[in-house]
Amino acid sequence: MNVKLAIIYYSTYGTNFQMASIAAEAAKSAGAETRLLKAAETVSAEVVARQEGWKAQADRSAHIPVATAADMEWANAYLFSAPTRFGVMASQMRAFIDTLGGTWAKGALANKAVSAMASAQNAHGGQEATILSFYATACHWGSIVVPPGYTDPVLFKVGGNPYGYSHTQGAEFTPDAKAAISHQARRLVSVAAKLN
Ligand SMILES: Cc1cc2nc3c(=O)[nH]c(=O)nc-3n(C[C@H](O)[C@H](O)[C@H](O)COP(=O)(O)O)c2cc1C
Repeated sequence: MNVKLAIIYYSTYGTNFQMASIAAEAAKSAGAETRLLKAAETVSAEVVARQEGWKAQADRSAHIPVATAADMEWANAYLFSAPTRFGVMASQMRAFIDTLGGTWAKGALANKAVSAMASAQNAHGGQEATILSFYATACHWGSIVVPPGYTDPVLFKVGGNPYGYSHTQGAEFTPDAKAAISHQARRLVSVAAKLN
């Protein structure tokens, strides 16, 4: 099917890492060549080490490659996942996106399928705004936004966010949550295959 999917997440405490990992499994099962990648940390290892949860996630994900502009050129579909920070995506993700000026200028981000997920501490703490901020950027790239909408009944069981899956920090990854993430990933792969 020739779908090359870059799943790019940022995660301080592990929530988005789990979301992205579930999505990667689903995308691979759907036949996409998949790279699971993290946005680079922007603070020093010394600062990370001061918080147990932050350090634990850094250790847990040490084997995950850092996303680069070359990954963005390689892929023909993107799935992003990031925590909400004061209603927008974490600055580490934004910092990665802001390295892509040259990639954008070459036209290498255009016509690629894009979907996004988010997490927050509160059930209504800004997930939708965070996801929509990814889609605003996708418009600048000329990408094709692929939201889940209500294309699977499981979406009604996990909060009904049609923009993208969103998770409340600390909540269990129930079978429905995993199914909703997997559905979003598979739908993205399916649309990307049609685009290709
Ligand atoms: C500086 C900062 C700002 C945050 N702002 C919000 C917010 O606006 N709304 C909210 O519900 N949670 C907020 N949170 C909580 C994060 O969204 C939460 O820790 C994150 O979704 C967990 O994802 P992770 O485990 O992948 O790091 C904030 C956290 C930090 C550190």
